[in-house]
Amino acid sequence: MIATPRLLLRPWRETDLPHFAALNADVEVRRWWSAGTLSEADSNAQANELQRHIEDNGFGFWAVEAPGVSPFIGFVCLQNESDDMPFAPAVEAGWRLARAYWGRGYAVEAAKAAFKDGFERLGLDEIVAYAVEGNMPSRRVMERLGMRHNPHDDFDHPRRAPNDPFKRHVLYRLRNSG
Ligand SMILES: CC(C)(COP(=O)(O)OP(=O)(O)OC[C@H]1O[C@@H](n2cnc3c(N)ncnc32)[C@H](O)[C@@H]1OP(=O)(O)O)[C@@H](O)C(=O)NCCC(=O)NCCS
Repeated sequence: MIATPRLLLRPWRETDLPHFAALNADVEVRRWWSAGTLSEADSNAQANELQRHIEDNGFGFWAVEAPGVSPFIGFVCLQNESDDMPFAPAVEAGWRLARAYWGRGYAVEAAKAAFKDGFERLGLDEIVAYAVEGNMPSRRVMERLGMRHNPHDDFDHPRRAPNDPFKRHVLYRLRNSG
């Protein structure tokens, strides 16, 4: 569990599931990596997977609560990257907030705290983040976190078909400056 001035990054709860399903049913939230929405069953399975990563590793994609505002606004955090990515092994940062909570600085505030935890408690050397080239809101979060983009790192997602519009990705990195 990680607390910031406005947020709580915490393990997932059963009561988060309907909020997460609603977020995943919003095409605008998913527009940069999927042409469709996620069913409630798939959304629940994804939440369970994220919680399992936290239990297995002591860190992961925490559920984010904004006390006094909403019990669940989305997820932000760090997880081990899958082995098939060109930059693996790596720890990846990610964020997905319900649309009602965009534009308030929550993603940056939560990610800053997660990065501090990653560098100080977990002793990570580096954290990466990636997005489809055009996903400027996500890239702005990366830039506000001080992450650097080197175009030589850009890559085609290995699990996307050659003609998939979401195939090309940009990679940002932040080294532990100790
Ligand atoms: C990516 C995503 C999390 C970014 O959310 P966001 O709301 O833009 O990011 P933040 O919460 O940090 O808020 C940033 C904005 O809040 C504003 N802000 C910053 N601090 C603030 C504060 N304390 N109070 C109010 N507003 C603030 C900033 O001015 C900024 O706006 P600007 O960049 O237009 O100037 C969100 O767009 C999202 O969930 N998208 C869908 C999922 C997705 O694409 N995930 C990434 C896949 S790679």
